[in-house]
Amino acid sequence: MSWSFASKIKLNDGHLMPVFGLGLYQAASTLKTTEIVVDAIRLGYPLIDTAEIYGNEAQVGEAVKNNIERGKIFISTKLFRTNDGYEGLHKSFNRSLQKLDTNYIDLYLMHAPQGGHVLEVYREILQLQREGKIRSVGVSNFGVQHLKWLKQAGFVPAVNQIELHPWWPNEDIVEYCRENNIAIMGYSPLGKARFLDDPYLQKIAAQYGKTPAQILIRWSLQNGFITIPKTSSSTERLKENMAVFDFTISDDDMKNIARYGKKNPQNTGWNPTLNTKEDFGPL
Ligand SMILES: NC(=O)c1ccc[n+]([C@@H]2O[C@H](COP(=O)([O-])OP(=O)(O)OC[C@H]3O[C@@H](n4cnc5c(N)ncnc54)[C@H](OP(=O)(O)O)[C@@H]3O)[C@@H](O)[C@H]2O)c1
Repeated sequence: MSWSFASKIKLNDGHLMPVFGLGLYQAASTLKTTEIVVDAIRLGYPLIDTAEIYGNEAQVGEAVKNNIERGKIFISTKLFRTNDGYEGLHKSFNRSLQKLDTNYIDLYLMHAPQGGHVLEVYREILQLQREGKIRSVGVSNFGVQHLKWLKQAGFVPAVNQIELHPWWPNEDIVEYCRENNIAIMGYSPLGKARFLDDPYLQKIAAQYGKTPAQILIRWSLQNGFITIPKTSSSTERLKENMAVFDFTISDDDMKNIARYGKKNPQNTGWNPTLNTKEDFGPL
């Protein structure tokens, strides 16, 4: 598939989701973040990814409210903990709605398979979906085993958001998601900027006349991952990160980049495989 800036994929629940957006992890709860989101919206970013734990849902709400029709922007946010069962979910969810200043969330993700009430909370999230408060339900940081436990309980999420870049390709999770029609949303596509000075990546970037960040974003897109590079610092970076729809990485280079990253695996976030079945709790 050749991706364009307006490309969307159809999720397993029938809803459409943009393949590209802005991530907001560690974007401060300040006016600067509101301004970056406003700039992203004006540039045409179709998706904003935030989370309860990021502390910047209010900045997203403020930016969206004054700059775009709600129906024209896709918002994903995340429930941080399932520890307090369905009561905790309702409190968190209502707080997210209020901060985002909206009456529905496009994609509501369980942030990680942790907390002891995963199944109970997941079932209750589906109830919120039936009530129209959530369009699509997804998970994040779920490993293959976690997805299997969910499936045993009768649940198949629309999306799994996991760390994805050449140095952390999570191939087993990707394969399972593809087999089960779960859309793959890759986070930290730039490896939190840790690999941008890598000489091999720089060489490839020079060959294509692109920046290392653009190569990594394009690599994610061509793998079929929904990708959400974060920038909180400049409009120039917003523009750079979206200028990835006018070139194609060759099949050989896609493989070479993957092979290169795998030689020296490194993850930059948390490792979902550490969570156990106790986290799932009874249904
Ligand atoms: N579900 C989860 O558990 C989870 C975990 C991590 C991330 N995420 C999501 O995925 C999004 C992206 O991941 P991430 O924020 O971890 O990391 P990332 O997007 O891989 O990298 C972000 C870093 O790259 C820098 N950067 C951005 N564009 C750049 C460019 N063109 N040139 C040079 N540096 C650039 C940013 O700096 P500036 O900000 O200073 O521009 C920031 O330091 C998050 O924001 C969040 O929405 C989800």
